[in-house]
Amino acid sequence: SAAEKGGWSSFMDKEIHEDPEAVSNTLMGRFDMHGDIVLDEVHISPEDFKSIDKIIVVACGTASYAGMVAKYAIEHWVRIPVEVELAHEFRYRDPILTPRTLVVAISQSGETMDTLMALRHAREQGSRVLAICNTQGASIPRESDAVLYTHAGPEIAVASTKAFVAQVVAAYMLGLYFAQLKGTMFRDEIRQIVDQLKAMPEKIQWVLDNQAETIQNTAKRMVDAHSFLFLGRHVGYPVAMEGALKLKEIAYTFTEGFAAGELKHGPIALVDEGEPVVVIVPSARGRNILHSKVISGIEEVKARGAFTIAVAEQDDPDVERYADVVLWRPACPTLLSPLVDVVPLQLFAMDMAMLKGYDVDKPRNLAKSVTVE
Ligand code: G6P
Repeated sequence: SAAEKGGWSSFMDKEIHEDPEAVSNTLMGRFDMHGDIVLDEVHISPEDFKSIDKIIVVACGTASYAGMVAKYAIEHWVRIPVEVELAHEFRYRDPILTPRTLVVAISQSGETMDTLMALRHAREQGSRVLAICNTQGASIPRESDAVLYTHAGPEIAVASTKAFVAQVVAAYMLGLYFAQLKGTMFRDEIRQIVDQLKAMPEKIQWVLDNQAETIQNTAKRMVDAHSFLFLGRHVGYPVAMEGALKLKEIAYTFTEGFAAGELKHGPIALVDEGEPVVVIVPSARGRNILHSKVISGIEEVKARGAFTIAVAEQDDPDVERYADVVLWRPACPTLLSPLVDVVPLQLFAMDMAMLKGYDVDKPRNLAKSVTVE
């Protein structure tokens, strides 16, 4: 009902505007009296945790992209390999699982059958499973050895939004927990990242408050486009795929998310006059080499007639020269940038679906939680 939507045009609209809270609530209560990071439910001893030598994230849809983002951070912080696998592909390929493997099942609903079957398979093989879940007491956390709840609040719209940012935060807390246990980072470093995470809700709010109009105007210009390409690199790559997924789920537009470096190996053949290309631009600060590479990617598609929409950090010195539209976001550390970069893409997909007259909360053919394999 309208009352449940709290004045927003849809549940999706409401839930996107709850991104900042989803981040801050997921960060709350994560520290004990000594300032050490704590998980929610743990039936894994610290010794067993310390012995973990590989993490495999299993998930579907949006949750899998949160897992891909986390891979960049966890490998960097903890120096253990992290694989990310679609849950439905996982158990049928005879994955290598040992008691030293931690399988991390990420699921908003906690009821996705593909993910549940993957975690059962992992446990049968003697691996331990940790769930990152938004629903208290759902099947996936109940069957896991440890749980880290996201506190995004109930998500009603089929297309996942606030759960994604909460999943990224929760997976990052898991990474920092490992770093603390394994001693791969100094306490001060962990503390600094937590402080940076705590600053993210305000940055997300800035995007919601200041970019909505540009996003809506862009959607109006693009409403008849038949397809979209999304490009990103490093943590921007899973964000590009998530942006592409949102648009196909609710606006029924053909989209594809690519790693920007792959452009020259194929996708650039798709670029024709007027083709919209959305590019997640990494920060230019610290002479970030990836920044110039992504900027030249924009240049290349632009030279072939693409209509370029960039998501970029404020004060980026180069992006405006090549992008037809720039959606700005506040400065933040690279590893945390997905938390803000995804927000304009969520709004864009919603605006496109609304302009096309579709039900943004209940897209055709999709279910909020897929409880069959
Ligand atoms: C369905 C939904 C997606 C969601 C995926 C995983 O396909 O339509 O929005 O990302 O399931 O759901 P989960 O509840 O496991 O996160």
